[in-house]
Amino acid sequence: MKPAVLFWSKTGNTRKFANIISDLLLEFKIEDFLVAEIREDFTFNPLDYDIVFLGSPVYRFLPPREVISFVDFNMDKFRRFRSLRSPKVPFKFGVTFCTYSGIHTGVKEAIPALKYLSQFLEHFGFLVVEEMALLSKFSNWQEANIKGKCGDIRDMPDNRIIRNFYNDIKDWFIYFKEVLRWKSC
Ligand SMILES: Cc1cc2nc3c(=O)[nH]c(=O)nc-3n(C[C@H](O)[C@H](O)[C@H](O)COP(=O)(O)O)c2cc1C
Repeated sequence: MKPAVLFWSKTGNTRKFANIISDLLLEFKIEDFLVAEIREDFTFNPLDYDIVFLGSPVYRFLPPREVISFVDFNMDKFRRFRSLRSPKVPFKFGVTFCTYSGIHTGVKEAIPALKYLSQFLEHFGFLVVEEMALLSKFSNWQEANIKGKCGDIRDMPDNRIIRNFYNDIKDWFIYFKEVLRWKSC
């Protein structure tokens, strides 16, 4: 199994979830993996990995500009690796996750950003098995953290969100391990 965990985070919420995935990789005794923070010119061919975890905050219903530039950069750079109609490449899986505050319209704000991230992987033929919207506080905007559409989010992500995320990712690792075992049979 060769996973990659790519994320962008300014105030630490998304990083928290990326760290949970990294810890689980070690728990599963997986040694050959990549964990990296997204930069605009970071070269990344998803097809070099079996499983890609891609995480970002939501800024104006989409990922931040840096993440969009990263996607543009690699869509162009690895154009020849992609085919028309994006046929699924066997044994390539993706999980996308976004932290969001949902102050105005709730979880709907995270959906376009998640779809955007998933499209990057799907264009390379990945099967994106889950898109995770993770409610998280808005740094330095107290009023929004109390009176927004999602209510009081000052303590988000709370233990319940973190525990659910941990359990979901753990389940996916069990699944990926099993599926990739069939691949090598
Ligand atoms: C400039 C900016 C724009 C944001 N826009 C949105 C938004 O449109 N919708 C939303 O739900 N949250 C929005 N947020 C909240 C962030 O998505 C949320 O706090 C996220 O967890 C921050 O991630 P990070 O701590 O990993 O940087 C915005 C935050 C910032 C700083």
